[in-house]
Amino acid sequence: MPAPALLPDPDPRMPYQHPMPKEASADIVIAGVLPEDERVWVPQAPNVWFRPLCLNAAQGYWVNLLKVTRAGVLSRHRHTNPVHGYVLKGRWHYLEHDWVATEGGYVYEPPGETHTLVVPEDVAEMITLFQVNGLMLYVDPYGAALGYEDVFTKIDMCRRHYAACGLGEDYVDRFIR
Ligand SMILES: [Fe+2]
Repeated sequence: MPAPALLPDPDPRMPYQHPMPKEASADIVIAGVLPEDERVWVPQAPNVWFRPLCLNAAQGYWVNLLKVTRAGVLSRHRHTNPVHGYVLKGRWHYLEHDWVATEGGYVYEPPGETHTLVVPEDVAEMITLFQVNGLMLYVDPYGAALGYEDVFTKIDMCRRHYAACGLGEDYVDRFIR
């Protein structure tokens, strides 16, 4: 069945003439996602950092770059909601799967996934953009809960790091919606 036709547009190059809805939140525009100031990377674990892009408190998700250097590990965790990832640099895999995420690649992690992200010895650094929804529940090998992260714990980590490194704790506010 053909897609429904659109009505003819009298002027395709004319901008929208009304204001945005007053309830809409502000855009976030980040010219270079890889920061020139290394302090923007928030340390998370040995050899693991994240760089916030959008911390959506209203809808309970976050978009960030994850950076893991040689032989680093992102601890075993379970997802309650989907994750989308795009690999900007390097290569990594999960201990629980036989596929490898490579530079330029996309991954989808369905709700219910539990996995452990590792970077191989021969990769100096990997950087991946992740959109993470809901909760990351850190677990032992048998699924017992050890801790969690959500958009609110991410915001707290950013505030503490940006206060300590001199950017100021409200540096994080530009990423929060
Ligand atoms: Fe994950």
